[in-house]
Amino acid sequence: MKAFGYNSNGGPEVQEFLDLAMPSPLAGELLVEVRAAGVYPVDWKIRSGAFGPSAPADFPKVLGSEVSGVVREIGQDVDGFAVGDEVFGSVAPGSGGFAEFALLPATAAAHKPLKVSFTDAATLSVAAATAYDGVAQVQLEAGQTLLINGVSGGVGVAAAQIARDLEINVIGTAGADKRPLIESLGATLVPYGDGVAGRITDLLPDGVDAIFDLAGGTCLRDVVDLVADRNKLISAGDPETVAELGGHVIERDRTQRVLDIVADLVAEGKLDPHVEDVLSFDDVAAAMSAVEVGHAKGKVVVNVG
Ligand SMILES: NC(=O)c1ccc[n+]([C@@H]2O[C@H](COP(=O)([O-])OP(=O)(O)OC[C@H]3O[C@@H](n4cnc5c(N)ncnc54)[C@H](OP(=O)(O)O)[C@@H]3O)[C@@H](O)[C@H]2O)c1
Repeated sequence: MKAFGYNSNGGPEVQEFLDLAMPSPLAGELLVEVRAAGVYPVDWKIRSGAFGPSAPADFPKVLGSEVSGVVREIGQDVDGFAVGDEVFGSVAPGSGGFAEFALLPATAAAHKPLKVSFTDAATLSVAAATAYDGVAQVQLEAGQTLLINGVSGGVGVAAAQIARDLEINVIGTAGADKRPLIESLGATLVPYGDGVAGRITDLLPDGVDAIFDLAGGTCLRDVVDLVADRNKLISAGDPETVAELGGHVIERDRTQRVLDIVADLVAEGKLDPHVEDVLSFDDVAAAMSAVEVGHAKGKVVVNVG
């Protein structure tokens, strides 16, 4: 099968199309013919070796973490799925979504509602589910204010809509060029950079009730004093800095329950993953670099099949 991955850690130059044997589902896994795959920033970070070099036995590694597609084979000990089902989910360890076929643990997969396109479904198991988990973790009530630090990417755009649906006020940091997108979600945009905390306190003199950080590092330090209760400070992208500041790493649920919830939100028209770019499989390298630059707008999806 055709796949896109790498044989050594490094920059985009190590990425290549690969000709791999068809994978076989182990117990608890689904073999899925991939229709679409979301591009997730952690993919390039792993490829680069930023989380440590990959073990030689792990190569070739296939890129792509979240997919939608059609079940073609089912491993032992799987209930609730049949061949031909339209599904979405996160890929199994050692598998990858930028491929004609991928393996999904059945526990990290869910049925795609008819009303949800394969393109949108491919963004739900990582981006939208992370957004859902983060909004649930900060436990705000209607009328309270959530700051989403890095609101314009895949997770932020979903988190803003999930919070607005709960009648939580949302203020988000992003580049000024993202204002139309963020305002269309019912959120307030404050451009990041020098003086960002002051620009937020100009609008909200008492600060915010919680921060959901997606930017990390200096960008997180710049806004941290806006929240008094550090139990309401969480980060999805920078565990070290958030821990140092007295906050918490996002707790991911990674169950079918959350996948079903986010898919229903899309089907009900309450959540638009804002897929701003759909590229063909042949252009998958361009899709990776669109996310690797760190200034994505919504989600980028690769149309695999
Ligand atoms: N732990 C988990 O399970 C998990 C799951 C999903 C994601 N994550 C992590 O969460 C982070 C966000 O993911 P994503 O998919 O939303 O990323 P993304 O789609 O690449 O979006 C990143 C966003 O960050 C914004 N940004 C860049 N520099 C910024 C700054 N200085 N201040 C504020 N915002 C800034 C960008 O906005 P501009 O374009 O306007 O600059 C961009 O929209 C990543 O670090 C990712 O690895 C973790």
